[in-house]
Amino acid sequence: MSVLQVDNVVSGYGSMEVLHDLSLAVGQGEIVAMLGPNGAGKTTLLRTIFGVVPPWSGTITYKGEDISGVPPERLVRMGLAYIPQEYNIFASLTVQENLEMGAFIRDDDIHPRIEEIFELFPDIAERRKSRAGELSGGMRQMLAIGRALMLNPELLLMDEISTGLAPFLVDAIFERVKELNDQGVTILLVEQNAPKALQTSDRVYIIEGGEKKAEGNPEAIAADEEIARLYLGRS
Ligand SMILES: Nc1ncnc2c1ncn2[C@@H]1O[C@H](COP(=O)(O)OP(=O)(O)OP(=O)(O)O)[C@@H](O)[C@H]1O
Ligand SMILES: [Mg+2]
Repeated sequence: MSVLQVDNVVSGYGSMEVLHDLSLAVGQGEIVAMLGPNGAGKTTLLRTIFGVVPPWSGTITYKGEDISGVPPERLVRMGLAYIPQEYNIFASLTVQENLEMGAFIRDDDIHPRIEEIFELFPDIAERRKSRAGELSGGMRQMLAIGRALMLNPELLLMDEISTGLAPFLVDAIFERVKELNDQGVTILLVEQNAPKALQTSDRVYIIEGGEKKAEGNPEAIAADEEIARLYLGRS
């Protein structure tokens, strides 16, 4: 059974339609990557799934339940988490306070979970009392992931977590992503780094102009010369 199913979704901003009848699915335990050019609608799709942008029509189903238009504060209680492309941490709060904010709906002891997250990201553990705004780009992204993990999500939506990072940090971040997936977290991610996305994911969707242009396993996507030329930056 799919953990997430997006069926014929249309959405946009104001009167501008961005997603045109888009469908995709994410199976239990998968890492699914979305690739596509700037302005394709990748972020809009994640926002629509997470209830930040309401769908105009179509259906979004999570573990068999219709969540179309359900607001984020309810979705986090159902096991979804979302790491936005921008403004994914509170720069003026400390590292530890950011993690505490990630667990705002929990009223039990969150400190064991904070320690688990520091074990996953030892670099940010050393900076737990620093303001998040003082961290390097790589550490900020690790903190953003850590914050999203505070509620033990089953499905993690991640928007371009590696953009702008040095290659060794991209590798480090994706190793953590793999580790989370091994622990049972299902992942839908948007990625600009096509080789990394193909290397990390179980399945890939190519989105352009608010429509699905291709889907398949990474081997098939990479082997398709037209897709590679059009979307993967290969000539
Ligand atoms: N808040 C907004 N209000 C109005 N239009 C928006 C808004 N956010 C995005 N758009 C428009 O919606 C379209 C899709 O944008 P979106 O951010 O979803 O693309 P994307 O695939 O995530 O691109 P990128 O790779 O640059 O992040 C674009 O034409 C964009 O200008
Ligand atoms: Mg985007």
